[in-house]
Amino acid sequence: MRTSNRVAALMFVLTFVTAVSFPHGIRAKEEVVKLPEHDSTGSVTLEQALSERRSVRAFQDTPVDLETVSQLCWAAQGISDKARQLRTAPSAGALYGLDTYIAVGNAHGLDAGLYRYEPGGHELLLQEHGDVRQAIAEAALGQQWIADAPLVFLIVGVPERLAYPYRDRAERYTLLEAGHAAQNLALQAVARELATTVVGAFSDSDLRELLGVPSSHIPLYVIPVGVPAQ
Ligand SMILES: Cc1cc2nc3c(=O)[nH]c(=O)nc-3n(C[C@H](O)[C@H](O)[C@H](O)COP(=O)(O)O)c2cc1C
Repeated sequence: MRTSNRVAALMFVLTFVTAVSFPHGIRAKEEVVKLPEHDSTGSVTLEQALSERRSVRAFQDTPVDLETVSQLCWAAQGISDKARQLRTAPSAGALYGLDTYIAVGNAHGLDAGLYRYEPGGHELLLQEHGDVRQAIAEAALGQQWIADAPLVFLIVGVPERLAYPYRDRAERYTLLEAGHAAQNLALQAVARELATTVVGAFSDSDLRELLGVPSSHIPLYVIPVGVPAQ
């Protein structure tokens, strides 16, 4: 093989290995925030949480603590069966077609920034330093109240993870999975005296750009969380 062909072949292999090993792209040094262990007990019953959940669009300027961030992440997508790596929300074939991001604006123990939740390690991977809540509010067609929430969750569907074996049903199953995760998050928030609204009105392309994800990733929900204003 000529040297130029060898170099081209090596580049091809490297590109392939990189794409498989780092589906979210290589970050020079991804900062990792280990979350505290979640709590599997609580004083609010499921019936109370169901009765009290209401969409709230005004929040107090009160910071959220790291335990609460941990609890919300776990409720949305955390591991509830360690041995089998199964999560709190059901998923077709347990293939898990969602990524969960959090824009942190006002939290104790967490710098403002955009993070991705990694269920396996129950940890947050910093994607970007700085407060991106205003950019999310603008991407959400100017729903300005979103920028006032101390945390803004973003649920993103990645249907390609379900493509085998579900083929043309992969996208449908991903959308259904997002509903489960969002409702878990909303109910957990209520149980912690917080409130949410699930937001579906936004520009997909603006959110993809903000998150740095390709067109195969579908932003499905923006979910601001905070202490409701009186
Ligand atoms: C798919 C979907 C998209 C939604 N998008 C928005 C939205 O963009 N902005 C908003 O303020 N509320 C949004 N909502 C919240 C609804 O307005 C709200 O759930 C509804 O008014 C019922 O009120 P409740 O949630 O308090 O029961 C959305 C709800 C769903 C299920």
